Amino acid sequence: MHSFHYTSDSLHCEGVDLETLSKEVGTPAYVYSATTIRDNFRSLHKALAPLKHRICYATKANSNLAILRLLVEEGAGFDIVSGGELFKVLRAGGRADQCTFAGVGKMPHEIEYALSQGVYCFNVESEGELDLINFIAGKLGCKAPIALRVNPDVDTPTHHYISTGKNKNKFGIGLDRAEEVYTHAASLPHLTIRGMQTHIGSQILTATPFVEAIKKLTPLIQSIRKRHALEFFSIGGGIGIVYEEALASGDPAWWKERKNGAQLSAEDYASAVLEPLQQLELPIFLEPGRSLVGNAGVLLSKALYRKETPKKNFLIVDAGMNDLIRPALYQGYHEIVPLQRHPNRALEKIDVVGPVCESGDFFAQERMLSRMEVGESLAIMSTGAYGFVMGSNYNARPLPPEILIEGKKVTVVRRRQSWEDLVRGEIIT
Ligand code: LLP
Repeated sequence: MHSFHYTSDSLHCEGVDLETLSKEVGTPAYVYSATTIRDNFRSLHKALAPLKHRICYATKANSNLAILRLLVEEGAGFDIVSGGELFKVLRAGGRADQCTFAGVGKMPHEIEYALSQGVYCFNVESEGELDLINFIAGKLGCKAPIALRVNPDVDTPTHHYISTGKNKNKFGIGLDRAEEVYTHAASLPHLTIRGMQTHIGSQILTATPFVEAIKKLTPLIQSIRKRHALEFFSIGGGIGIVYEEALASGDPAWWKERKNGAQLSAEDYASAVLEPLQQLELPIFLEPGRSLVGNAGVLLSKALYRKETPKKNFLIVDAGMNDLIRPALYQGYHEIVPLQRHPNRALEKIDVVGPVCESGDFFAQERMLSRMEVGESLAIMSTGAYGFVMGSNYNARPLPPEILIEGKKVTVVRRRQSWEDLVRGEIIT
């Protein structure tokens, strides 16, 4: 569920009319609903109540400080993948001892920073990394807490770029080698073994692969526990969200129907994983990103031109692939809706494209949409996760602002970049 809805044919986020807002803040602009994020967090927390658990929000999905702060308020821990993300979490008021540090390529200065701040655990992905963390901890005169990320080799029905749980992926340590690597970790003087982690991929819409991963890892966890006192098992992130017809989610009847279809609610997920996780008799960590913030964000954009050719019709809008790269990179589908709905207008088949000089710069191709005129504005739905954070200054386009709404309260939580921002740090020799 989320807090975007039409009232008298005007799209609102919570209590705010987005057409009016778009005129005030300009376009393109990201808009987030705080209530949706809080609701998503609370639903997951509630669904997992029978388990001793900690939700470590995957910071990479959306690392705006205001969103991190909101999740600190909700009691989240954080999964981070860089020194920069740890810096942001701390700046937002998060605690290092509630952070897990993931990623295959942790750099020495990041490890040193994370150790000095006292992160809860490094989720380690190779023996080389174990050795480096051990060395740096020795240099600092401390013991580094670690878990191994184990790759369970399960099939995940998702885009191949975001599937991580097969042994052909670069992630984690193979199931067949994990015991040996734990033994190696235990032999290193400056490491403390804390747990085990896995993450099988992202945008997964059925609970089956999660259950399969837990079942495949259970014998390993039991065997490791005989030798090392594990404090947690992390099942990672990956719960998928609805992208198609995302707006229809305001209607409870629609959701009910959808229940057996293409969405994985917190309740569905929990009811599948609770039992196998309970059998581990360990505190459980989760690292959700998309499922907390994905449907809490939209990208507002304005139609600049209409271009009709013998082959195709194009609506050229002021947001581009530099603002939202998911369609170009993963053929990601995002629903597109007008800020002002005109129920009597005819549908037309159209490509919605941006101003960037690449044919991959599109948000929709040959999509049936209600006709839109130049100057009218639209919302690209479900862009709260992996939207702004994957943005770039390609084509020297300033990054859009980010706006957080709670009820009727509107806060610009990141201002629009200026042209001056584009040249900051550059030097003419
Ligand atoms: N934990 C680890 C170790 C991860 O690598 C990720 C995501 C997560 C948790 C969070 O997964 P989530 O709950 O958000 O599915 N840019 C892509 C998604 C990349 C996901 C990378 N890892 C996209 O836009 O679809």
